[in-house]
Amino acid sequence: MERPLLEVRNLTVRRGNRTVLRNFNLTLREGEKLVLAGVNGVGKTTFAETVLGFIPFEGEISFEGKPVKGKKDFRELRKRVGYVFQNPDDQLFMPTVREELAFAPENLGLSRDEVAARVLKVSKKFGLENLLGVPTFNLSFGQKRLVSIACILTMEPKLLLLDEPTNGLDRDNWLRVAEFLQTFKGSVIVITHDRELIKFLRWRVVYLSELDFVSSLKFEIPPKG
Ligand SMILES: Nc1ncnc2c1ncn2[C@@H]1O[C@H](COP(=O)(O)OP(=O)(O)O)[C@@H](O)[C@H]1O
Ligand SMILES: [Mg+2]
Repeated sequence: MERPLLEVRNLTVRRGNRTVLRNFNLTLREGEKLVLAGVNGVGKTTFAETVLGFIPFEGEISFEGKPVKGKKDFRELRKRVGYVFQNPDDQLFMPTVREELAFAPENLGLSRDEVAARVLKVSKKFGLENLLGVPTFNLSFGQKRLVSIACILTMEPKLLLLDEPTNGLDRDNWLRVAEFLQTFKGSVIVITHDRELIKFLRWRVVYLSELDFVSSLKFEIPPKG
């Protein structure tokens, strides 16, 4: 049995007055690929944003066997966990595709040659070579999706976390993304409610339960005052 890469224990997360996640547990082993599924609004994106350190939480998160608690821990974790946003427009912000792809490895302090090598490698993988000089805002939605995945891969993450990566894709791009996920060698959590993708991947599926969600609403204690 491989050792755990990510462990989440008794994760409770509130947003506004609402408890979105309550005592949620998840263990991902080194090299494991899993699907996190559940209906709209159940807390899948909240889970991802919590693991990345964007939202306060109760409970324990550990990564590579070490507890992740303070700001510094999460800053380190974000260098190792690549997060592909639910909406590429929220993620992409550089003027051109080339700059977008170079951003993460430049930020990691890699040499120019190493950055260029990584940009070339992912561009080939996703067929983006001819788009490198194109302004990001001129891309189609499907192209933006491919770029949003590719620019996370250039950081060569230890764990790849993708939020609804097949939403809104045409058949060609759907297959591109699905096949990429299937063949990617590394640990992955893919958040999705795309049943076709779940069938295609045949990975372990963890369901965020609507029942937990509903009961957490029902038993919510109103704030004082
Ligand atoms: N920024 C926010 N502030 C307050 N509540 C939020 C925020 N984002 C999401 N929520 C609420 O948290 C719940 C879970 O949302 P989300 O994690 O986006 O679900 P999913 O990704 O499964 O569709 C929803 O009830 C949503 O309205
Ligand atoms: Mg979501």
